[in-house]
Amino acid sequence: MTFNFDQRIDRRHSDSLKWHKYAGQDILPLWVADTDFRSPSCIIEALKARVEQGVFGYGDRPHGLIDTAIARFASRYQWHVDPEWIVLLPGVVSGLNLSVRAFTAPDEITLAPTPIYPPFRGAAKLADRGQLNLPLSLQNHRWVIDINAATSQLSGKEKLLMLCNPQNPGGTVYRRAELQAQLAFAQQHDLIVCSDEIHCDLLLEPGLEHIPFASLSEDAAQRSITLISPSKSFNIAGLGASMAIIPNPELRARFNRVRQGIVPSVDILALVAAEAAWRDGDDWLAAQLAYLRSNRDWLVAQVNALPGLSMQSPRRPTLAG
Ligand SMILES: Cc1ncc(COP(=O)(O)O)c(C=O)c1O
Repeated sequence: MTFNFDQRIDRRHSDSLKWHKYAGQDILPLWVADTDFRSPSCIIEALKARVEQGVFGYGDRPHGLIDTAIARFASRYQWHVDPEWIVLLPGVVSGLNLSVRAFTAPDEITLAPTPIYPPFRGAAKLADRGQLNLPLSLQNHRWVIDINAATSQLSGKEKLLMLCNPQNPGGTVYRRAELQAQLAFAQQHDLIVCSDEIHCDLLLEPGLEHIPFASLSEDAAQRSITLISPSKSFNIAGLGASMAIIPNPELRARFNRVRQGIVPSVDILALVAAEAAWRDGDDWLAAQLAYLRSNRDWLVAQVNALPGLSMQSPRRPTLAG
């Protein structure tokens, strides 16, 4: 099947956050991970069928989505998730904020790479928690963390390690050995790990694989909260269906307690879209990745041709080393 990613859809008059930010200025709004692609027809058809029913009362736990997610995680990542580990959320950022509030006391400290998607810092700041930065450095065309470099700065108050894999903004897809180093650090300093994996399906290089932090070992699973969603990969972020996957029952109970009565349940249409995306959207996703790859190559070549500018591309050499 072929898909048309060249179709132009004017979103300037559709209450789009992305397009309103620089409205009226000659600026291309490339500031947020929100593509201008129409979502795959499997999502649009599933939504139409649900809307056609015409009744939009409270939803219950979405078994179709949960079963689809579990099958997907097993087949793509050999990661075996139990249904009860899954907590549905209306957004990944709420999961970052809930994690900080659930797993750190006011005098405790979170750790996060820098630079990082701003809500990681925001989550600590909004909850009045300290945050220790783990600087990324460029090595062999990849932004990586030397996690042990932070050891001398630890005060003993650190509780939560916040990871972003694939890394935003660096684009790094962490390899197993790098994740294992992060796990070893978490073990050594008795840290809970919140791993934002929202971009897990957007790996542009065919040879790269996403490894969920929680899939590394039983110990990794028991200390982890994985935040994941089809929202970026299928351009349905405005609908907001996300998951926190928390294998450890005590951590899950703490997370749910903080969430209760404050974070609403997920919109019923969002759940329908997420299930259709993960169940039937993979051909579209593969075509989108090929299209994005060629856009990326074009962009990198154009930027690197401008005097005084250089841009790293996460491409082939990263596989070798
Ligand atoms: C790393 C990362 N996490 C989370 C989000 C947003 O998640 P949500 O819209 O589900 O809150 C983004 C959006 O750009 C992101 O880049």
